[in-house]
Amino acid sequence: MTVKEYHTAPAEEKKNPWVQTPLRESYALSEAAGCRIFLKLENLQPSGSFKTRGIGYYILRRLEELPLGSRPHIFASSGGNAGLAAVHSARALGLQCTVVVPTATSALMVAKLRAAGAHDVIQHGAAWKDADTYLRTEVMPRAPQPTIYCPPFDHPDIWAGNSTVMHEIAAQLDSPPDVLICSVGGGGLMNGICQAMDDLKMYTPTILALETAGAESLNAALHARELITLPKITSQATSLGCAKVTEATFKYAQRANVRSVVLPDAEAAMGCWRLADDERMMVELACGVNVALCYDGRLEKALGRPVRRDDVVVIVLCGGSNVTSDMLCGWRKEYAYVEEELDMQGKRDSGYGIVPKPGSHLQETPCKDQAVVQAVARAHHEFAVPLCEHAARLEDICVTREREQESETDRRLVAPVFDEELLGVRECGEIGQSEEREQDGEEGCC
Ligand SMILES: Cc1ncc(COP(=O)(O)O)c(C=O)c1O
Repeated sequence: MTVKEYHTAPAEEKKNPWVQTPLRESYALSEAAGCRIFLKLENLQPSGSFKTRGIGYYILRRLEELPLGSRPHIFASSGGNAGLAAVHSARALGLQCTVVVPTATSALMVAKLRAAGAHDVIQHGAAWKDADTYLRTEVMPRAPQPTIYCPPFDHPDIWAGNSTVMHEIAAQLDSPPDVLICSVGGGGLMNGICQAMDDLKMYTPTILALETAGAESLNAALHARELITLPKITSQATSLGCAKVTEATFKYAQRANVRSVVLPDAEAAMGCWRLADDERMMVELACGVNVALCYDGRLEKALGRPVRRDDVVVIVLCGGSNVTSDMLCGWRKEYAYVEEELDMQGKRDSGYGIVPKPGSHLQETPCKDQAVVQAVARAHHEFAVPLCEHAARLEDICVTREREQESETDRRLVAPVFDEELLGVRECGEIGQSEEREQDGEEGCC
């Protein structure tokens, strides 16, 4: 397997706001994962994330609809990577871009939007929806010139733009990868990848769709067997914080080759700091969650099969600007236990346990994997407490619980974690189609 390199970009690429990115084999990550890990370096996009592809493509298509020579003003309401992509794309096309973001948007991201060359950054409203409404009803109507509104992820043209990443990967490899890893917020990236695979008639790669616990809108929908809106986003990986994935994402995820995987923020953070150490690259949590799979046996668990030395695994290193060296240091301190637990495995006599709901038939199931218990605690907080003297392995939880005696309620409460071999992993192939339910929840801001 070799990676084909293109030293000269196709002529038409010069007009695109995004760039063709390298696909590089990472020897450090390959060593850690026990197979061949290739990184598709979307962190090198001008805006710092793959978002430039979808948003850039979307703007190009809208420009085609306007009279020749129009110079529209671009508007976006994302304080995250989509907003940055809109500003960068506009700039690359010689246009101006205004972004309205909620007041909760971090000073870091506001500064980055300004530094990227935003015409204006307006902070308005508590949540993304308020900022978006203000943008559409107050700001855009006042613009003297034609306008283009950029949605963050939910538009077929955005998916078409994102699909270019998979077309590039296919052109850069000699043969299809065995595994493709990408993260899911609203699902625009995964839609693009699946769309491209369909175009390429590439049906063999397993797709691992990664989310963080507390932003697992796809995983929750798959468990519910219908599109649902998460009541709250609790993950720190705010770029993945979409309360509801697109209908197309939900459908793609039900294919037999797609597996939905959820990891806690702590492990996403570990992915970020280890990528920084191993490959000298800084990415945000939304991206680190993919990298985390390379370490400590997670890939095997996610795939549900042993990892082979010659497996070719491509990680779409989606990037993201919501990261600084201080944040990396903070995560490393806060979540140090992710690595400490491994160092201590087998040597420690204190542990953590998952305690059943009072009155349930589940056994008390000790577990020393603190990362697991923390994730369970987040999902089912009243059931997870520290225990001492009863260290056990995650596998023990699965074998010691009394499946037959579970009540329906117990099953519902514990199934998302324990029904699968490993934490948060579910294979999606056998779920039937279902109608989308009317939702009034708020979509997150990617
Ligand atoms: C860095 C990064 N990765 C992944 C995602 C998820 O993308 P999507 O919403 O298309 O699923 C986002 C969304 O903003 C992002 O910024």
